[in-house]
Amino acid sequence: MAILKTNKLTKHFEGVHAVDGLSLNIEKATIVAIVGPNGSGKTTLVNILTGMIPYDSGTVIVSDTTHRLKKIKPYTMYSYGLTRTFQEVRLFDQMSVRDNILVVLTKRKVIQSFFETQKSDYTKAANKILQKVGIWEKRNELAKNLSYGQRKLLEIARALVTQAEIFLFDEPFAGLFPEMRKMVSHIVAGLKRKGKTVILIEHDMDVVRELSDYIYVMDSGRLLATGTPREVLSNKEVREAYLGT
Ligand SMILES: Nc1ncnc2c1ncn2[C@@H]1O[C@H](COP(=O)(O)OP(=O)(O)OP(=O)(O)O)[C@@H](O)[C@H]1O
Ligand SMILES: [Mg+2]
Repeated sequence: MAILKTNKLTKHFEGVHAVDGLSLNIEKATIVAIVGPNGSGKTTLVNILTGMIPYDSGTVIVSDTTHRLKKIKPYTMYSYGLTRTFQEVRLFDQMSVRDNILVVLTKRKVIQSFFETQKSDYTKAANKILQKVGIWEKRNELAKNLSYGQRKLLEIARALVTQAEIFLFDEPFAGLFPEMRKMVSHIVAGLKRKGKTVILIEHDMDVVRELSDYIYVMDSGRLLATGTPREVLSNKEVREAYLGT
């Protein structure tokens, strides 16, 4: 079952065809990699799918587990079961690491439920997720004092507590040390095991090969190739244009 579809999606920025007639069909409970050279439109696509920027034409259809089909509108990403991380990490720098998680948890609760939940329950949940991503020891630090890699892990933790169905990660592995890469890889694979869908923007082909079920290769806003990692990474055009081999 497709959980997310786009049809002839288009976005221009003053003459730049950032996304140019893009049609995607993303199956539920898969890890889909979107790859392509710098400036090929990957982040623009994520911005559109999460309703952060409007698109010019085409359609975006998000299907939740009850088969409801709706067209996405700006600023509705959470209600459609989507969450994302940013290529340039976005956190509340002046808040503690744990408070960065708590603001997401409490917001979620306001939207999803009228039931009162004790503050301690939120704190427990925040601690749990921080342990999962390996930065629990930093829970009382201000977010701005974290290392680059720890910031990325905190942003991923913030996405995880939204309990979204579709996770869009914009280069989550970039600049991470091997141990952190392993952690993120484990998290992404774990989401799929739980039936979640992951859209992974990534430049590192080893990661893409290891994790993804399906790959879309973008070039100048269009699709250069699609298929399984085996198909795409053996495609001569892709190898020449993108992998340089
Ligand atoms: N807000 C904007 N205003 C004008 N042009 C933009 C804007 N956002 C993106 N672009 C342009 O759209 C094109 C696609 O950019 P985008 O950031 O989506 O690429 P990308 O594939 O994510 O690249 P990278 O791998 O470097 O992150 C580029 O030419 C970029 O300069
Ligand atoms: Mg980008």
